[in-house]
Amino acid sequence: MSTAVLEMNDVVVRRTGRHIVDGVSWTVREGERWVVLGANGAGKTTLLQLADTLLFPTTGTVDVLGERLGRTNVFEVRTMIGLASSAMARRIPADETVLDVVLTAAYAVTGRWREEYEGVDEDRAREVLVDWQLDHLADRLFGTLSDGEQKRVQIARAVMTDPELLLLDEPTASLDLGAREVLLQLLTDYSREPNTPAIVMVTHHVEEIPVGFTHVLLLRDGQAVAQGPLRETLTRENLQATFGLPIAIAEIGGRWVARAEAPTAS
Ligand SMILES: Nc1ncnc2c1ncn2[C@@H]1O[C@H](COP(=O)(O)OP(=O)(O)O)[C@@H](O)[C@H]1O
Ligand SMILES: [Mg+2]
Repeated sequence: MSTAVLEMNDVVVRRTGRHIVDGVSWTVREGERWVVLGANGAGKTTLLQLADTLLFPTTGTVDVLGERLGRTNVFEVRTMIGLASSAMARRIPADETVLDVVLTAAYAVTGRWREEYEGVDEDRAREVLVDWQLDHLADRLFGTLSDGEQKRVQIARAVMTDPELLLLDEPTASLDLGAREVLLQLLTDYSREPNTPAIVMVTHHVEEIPVGFTHVLLLRDGQAVAQGPLRETLTRENLQATFGLPIAIAEIGGRWVARAEAPTAS
């Protein structure tokens, strides 16, 4: 079995007396691309914060890229993790150019603080902009982009440094249908490249699972309802246990659709 990139063992995160993560054990291995699915408040963002070493568990253990949180200095590990989230996006200055937003990831800072970049970094940034269909926007200011373009910039920034683990917190939230589909296709293309890192993507909707993703973790009230390979885990029963109502689910060409089941006459 391939190496574990992220390993959580009986993890509890307690805040204001409540368990917002409640006994989660979960392993993400090299080459796997996970979706974390659950209702608002289920604890999805909190799990990503643990994975990004921004938060330590109250009890239980978290190992990220072979390092145990709380036991080692996590600064080095953090440089090997890419994160795109709305919290991250809020820290990007609206008047920074797209090229600089991506380029500054090389220095793990938001906001340009160093005038001289290595040419090799700029080459890499321009390559990433091409990959995420942003090259025509390189000189545009971040604040002037559409939601879909801003999301792609956030991901481009997160992959700029070739992370070992890529964390995406609701990358398709608030996008219109066209922008969502463009982004999902780019994620599919990216996941097919050689040397793609392990990916964990949080979403609310099964329709937003990109083709090429492999596993799902279903979360309810901080607890793992089910986890495993997509096809065997995304079942009617598991979705009902996650969302609290009967849900019909179907796969069409590697994509998923779900809806509440009509009540049956009794
Ligand atoms: N800093 C905090 N202090 C107290 N409660 C929090 C904090 N952060 C999140 N929570 C609560 O923990 C629960 C899980 O939050 P979160 O991980 O953001 O859920 P999700 O991303 O699945 O919507 C929510 O009920 C939220 O209100
Ligand atoms: Mg969240």
